[in-house]
Amino acid sequence: MIGLEIGRIIHILGVVFWIGGVAMITTIILPAIKKFKSAEERVEFFEKVERRFKIQARVTTMVTGLSGFYMISKLHAWSWFLDASYWWMWAMVIVWLIFTVMLFIIEPFILKNKLIEKAKTDPEGAFKKIQTMHAHLLWISLLTIIGAVAGAHGWLFF
Ligand code: HEM
Repeated sequence: MIGLEIGRIIHILGVVFWIGGVAMITTIILPAIKKFKSAEERVEFFEKVERRFKIQARVTTMVTGLSGFYMISKLHAWSWFLDASYWWMWAMVIVWLIFTVMLFIIEPFILKNKLIEKAKTDPEGAFKKIQTMHAHLLWISLLTIIGAVAGAHGWLFF
């Protein structure tokens, strides 16, 4: 099924740029920024990096979601959601929903202002919050990738 294969290629390219970016920020950029002398500088530099990544994350979240739903329709796989051994299908949709809500609603309308405020009064706390949030987003994404790759190739755990 050529459509399905193209959908899968696009899906994984989306995941690579999206979750790969989250991994880069969490494991390389944030620890490097932590070494900056002033906490204000850390938040300011992070804002600059995140501003660029946000555009990439928004595009790749949409690409991954659309290609995912396209594959479900090609595979006639809606019923997988009713089977516990396909928990990773739920995991993918939940991770996608969390990022979509964060990137399109919470970050621009709520978090941005809150973080800017917090960065002024408590820059250390603001940076810690950023780090914790990214660490959680990364581990749930990695768990989802493990489940999805194993599950899509027939290793359903139970
Ligand atoms: C709306 C969200 C999503 C939908 C509807 C969706 C749907 C799908 C479908 C239908 C498959 C193919 C399963 C198969 O070939 O048996 C798949 C594979 C996969 N998805 Fe998703 N997905 C979504 C989000 C995500 C996210 C957020 C991630 C990563 C965190 C992800 C990572 C993967 C991976 C790694 C595979 C395995 C590909 C392979 O090894 O063949 N997906 N997805």
